[in-house]
Amino acid sequence: MSQKALWSGRFKEPLSQAALKFSSSIEFDKRLYQEDIAGSIAHVEMLSACRIITAAEARKIRNALKAIHKEIETGKFPLGDEYEDIHLAIEQRLIQKIGPVGGKLHTARSRNDQIALDERLFLRTAIREIQKLITQFQRVLLYKSEKYFGVLMPGYTHVQRAQPVLLAHHLLAYVSMVERDYERLGDCLKRSNKSPLGAAALAGTSFPIDRMKTAKKLGFDGIVENSIDAVSDRDYILEFVSACSILAMHLSRMAEEFVLWSTKEFSFVQISDAYTTGSSIMPQKKNPDIAELIRGKTGSVYGNLVNLLTMMKALPLAYNRDMQEDKAPLFETVNTLRTSLFVMTHMLVHTEFRKEHLEEELRNDFTSATDIADYLVRQGLPFREAHEITGRIVSYCIDHRMYFGNLDLETLKTFSKHFEADIFDFLLPRQSVEQKKSAGSTSPQEVKKQIVHWTRVLKARK
Ligand code: ARG
Repeated sequence: MSQKALWSGRFKEPLSQAALKFSSSIEFDKRLYQEDIAGSIAHVEMLSACRIITAAEARKIRNALKAIHKEIETGKFPLGDEYEDIHLAIEQRLIQKIGPVGGKLHTARSRNDQIALDERLFLRTAIREIQKLITQFQRVLLYKSEKYFGVLMPGYTHVQRAQPVLLAHHLLAYVSMVERDYERLGDCLKRSNKSPLGAAALAGTSFPIDRMKTAKKLGFDGIVENSIDAVSDRDYILEFVSACSILAMHLSRMAEEFVLWSTKEFSFVQISDAYTTGSSIMPQKKNPDIAELIRGKTGSVYGNLVNLLTMMKALPLAYNRDMQEDKAPLFETVNTLRTSLFVMTHMLVHTEFRKEHLEEELRNDFTSATDIADYLVRQGLPFREAHEITGRIVSYCIDHRMYFGNLDLETLKTFSKHFEADIFDFLLPRQSVEQKKSAGSTSPQEVKKQIVHWTRVLKARK
């Protein structure tokens, strides 16, 4: 450090270059400069309102902080690695600009409550941003559900064709899943939107500060009551990264479906050229790299969660420098989720579903087998018996290279006398879907209900 450290009083020697380089967090926490300055301005205004410093001193400090904000924005104050962290960099610059009065800013404050404050402010913005991106993603899913309403596709279990469903129903499943991610982030925001400022190092302060005042100025819903808790925990980050891990998992599953569905083998979707890449050797290739990367980046988000949980697990109260290591995983998680959600949404916009192919695939399969069994149950047979009979019909069709649509009543009767002419209302995939009665099922009426519900919810959302 070219200048003396702000904490140098009790030291006879300066921090070694190697130790500074090792311990500096400026490379990461410079991203918090806006939060740090906003927190300092609120703090200094409170100090003046509580008559701990004079109004003139507060004004001087506030104006200088605003000027520093501008200097950082315009690159005039490059936050280089000669600084230990963002807090000291800004304070040092403040004192440089307005002299010793700048040193009054840190009255009744510690970097321990300062960093917790900056992070909570940062998190608030990040959560709102990610929630907005989730909403946009849901809107596109909803748009596609309406566009392809009525289109059938095979629903799967074990990646084996199971029962026919509406494509819209499948897409809307993701709307519901990421809605819970939206809510989880909202819950995290509710708990984290509390001000730790005023906890000082850990024990509070003997100055007559007003913690509620700074909390209000900064838009918090209250304060983190216990001062030791306020500087010791990072559960707000852990909760956020946990919620993001689940969200990343949801995106990854959809990305995986895009990878599968865009293969020749499935051919369910056509992703536009803008969201696929070519091979450097095989001229015919069109690869779903973007979907693969969304899937792949999920690993780093999970890694960040494990990183943070492990870093925190054995820390005695209160602050420990280990906690400085929370920045990289937090920022990286925010970056990843922001870009993955954005790219996923746009890739979906630029994807067309091949509806003729989807329905053709269904015609040449046995996905309405459960409906035949259900028919026999309605004729009075126990389900197990109906299952057995239908299995034999499937086997017969396979042996004779035919599908349910090719069967006549006479043949059906050889399997069970309970078959009547109305069985032909149940043999086809579309009939299977239309016959569904239960709430939340794949029947067009039920899927329509979901569309109406989400249209209302998403319209009301900013
Ligand atoms: N750069 C530090 C961090 O991110 C700020 C708090 C430092 N506090 C201290 N007592 N050294 O955690």
